[in-house]
Amino acid sequence: MNVLDGRVAVITGGSRGIGLAIARAYRAAGAHVTIAARKADGLAAARAELMTTPAAGGVHTVVANAGEPEQAQRCVDETMERFGRVDILVNNAATNPYHGALIDLDLPRAEKTVRVNQYGMIAWTRCAWQASMAEHGGAIVNIASVGGLIVDPHIGYYNATKAAMLHLTRQLAYELGPKARVNAIAPGLIKTELARAVWEVREPILTAKLPLRRLGTPEDVANAAVFLASDASSWMTGQTLVLDGGALALPIGVDS
Ligand SMILES: NC(=O)c1ccc[n+]([C@@H]2O[C@H](COP(=O)([O-])OP(=O)(O)OC[C@H]3O[C@@H](n4cnc5c(N)ncnc54)[C@H](OP(=O)(O)O)[C@@H]3O)[C@@H](O)[C@H]2O)c1
Repeated sequence: MNVLDGRVAVITGGSRGIGLAIARAYRAAGAHVTIAARKADGLAAARAELMTTPAAGGVHTVVANAGEPEQAQRCVDETMERFGRVDILVNNAATNPYHGALIDLDLPRAEKTVRVNQYGMIAWTRCAWQASMAEHGGAIVNIASVGGLIVDPHIGYYNATKAAMLHLTRQLAYELGPKARVNAIAPGLIKTELARAVWEVREPILTAKLPLRRLGTPEDVANAAVFLASDASSWMTGQTLVLDGGALALPIGVDS
């Protein structure tokens, strides 16, 4: 018996990187998955890759922007039609369009960041709750960032939305218990397309300082996401799992 046998998961940003690794891991653990992203070609490639594995669970794809509530509703409706329930929601898609100091913050980009990273998380949660979790229960996994716990010179506004996700995780855990559990993962630097510009040229320097001497992989996050979706974490809600190779365990004054 697999830990997620027969369960149904909706994963935003599921066509590559961390979201796709979670979809792979959930299927391997016995779940059916719906993956959502903005681009149909990326979703088709992800679906083809997922279907090459022997897992029994179905794969459904939905073109949807995480920042558009009506697209969240359509994605959840299609999942209900296809699989009959939503047991797990992974709020993984995020956007990071503004790099720079808060004092120079560009408001349209700030609004986009909040719309996807904060309002989106609430909108998708509401859809999953109303369609299925209020009746059948469920587990919600929010992919935040270790950036939500620290100060950064370049991506302070994105990090503020990630800090908000950690608080919203606790608030939703309070509001949706005991039916649904809500937890977050705060990854450090993970080797995906999103962060390529950071790790590609500086990997040896970055890893030399980390206690675990390597950057994270999408699979590191996926393993934690299986735990948080499964009954192994059944008395855990409102919490944040930090996966950072030990970056937050460095003495003050040592850059991570
Ligand atoms: N990589 C890291 O170092 C790192 C560290 C900490 C936290 N995180 C967090 O981990 C999550 C996943 O990041 P990643 O590194 O896996 O990124 P990624 O490799 O760039 O993948 C992003 C995924 O999200 C989709 N996406 C992007 N914007 C979307 C939107 N507005 N609506 C729906 N789907 C959208 C993309 O597909 P489309 O382009 O087709 O939409 C893709 O499937 C994010 O929340 C990110 O903030 C990443």
